[in-house]
Amino acid sequence: MTAASGQRREPIVSVRDLQVRFQTSDRRATVKAVDGVNFDVRRGETFGIIGESGSGKTTIGRALVFLLNPSAGAILHGGIDPLTLPRREFQNHRRDYQIIFQDPNAALNPRMTILASVLEPLELARIGDRAARERQAREALERVGLPQEFGERYPHQLSGGQKQRVVIARALTLKPKLISATRWWPRSTCRSAATCSICLPICSAISA
Ligand SMILES: Nc1ncnc2c1ncn2[C@@H]1O[C@H](COP(=O)(O)OP(=O)(O)OP(=O)(O)O)[C@@H](O)[C@H]1O
Ligand SMILES: [Mg+2]
Repeated sequence: MTAASGQRREPIVSVRDLQVRFQTSDRRATVKAVDGVNFDVRRGETFGIIGESGSGKTTIGRALVFLLNPSAGAILHGGIDPLTLPRREFQNHRRDYQIIFQDPNAALNPRMTILASVLEPLELARIGDRAARERQAREALERVGLPQEFGERYPHQLSGGQKQRVVIARALTLKPKLISATRWWPRSTCRSAATCSICLPICSAISA
């Protein structure tokens, strides 16, 4: 095996015997949202999870990027358990693992222009100077097929699908290794109401 093929085969994420439990609000019972899930996602792969409503798909998607911690089992990123990293390293590490939520309205600030929204993660991460950040943000908008003039608009001036693309552009700016998408409708799968009724969160490993 060559070094390159070895690198390709190394999973970006490995899920091992994952369990996530929630307590009910009266704390009298426990909901087993995820119980014994195992899978690997490698660079360049698109991995989808299909299941009935309430079966734990979004919970897995959130756990993949450590928006919630496993109750048991492990999630390894590139072979390491991020929960063992020191706090600052953990925060830096999380930039490589992004999540896109289902509702773009909840993810975009109505008072910020589209360009400002896409710039925000780069500014928080203090990447490059202002000009370099703006170039990266504009490139990300271009990558999702939005014309440059959309950068000066506000969310209410975009269609639902265009807003969804802005949210994807925002996640792409940091060039993540993995994007966990909780319910993503690729255009080609949305030709009928029947296919759209299937819940399809996709963990997409983006090749750099
Ligand atoms: N924060 C929470 N507290 C308590 N229970 C929760 C919490 N989040 C999710 N659950 C429960 O965990 C289970 C799995 O929820 P999840 O959102 O992962 O399902 P899903 O497969 O994404 O469903 P859908 O297809 O309807 O989006 C459900 O029974 C849900 O009610
Ligand atoms: Mg869901």
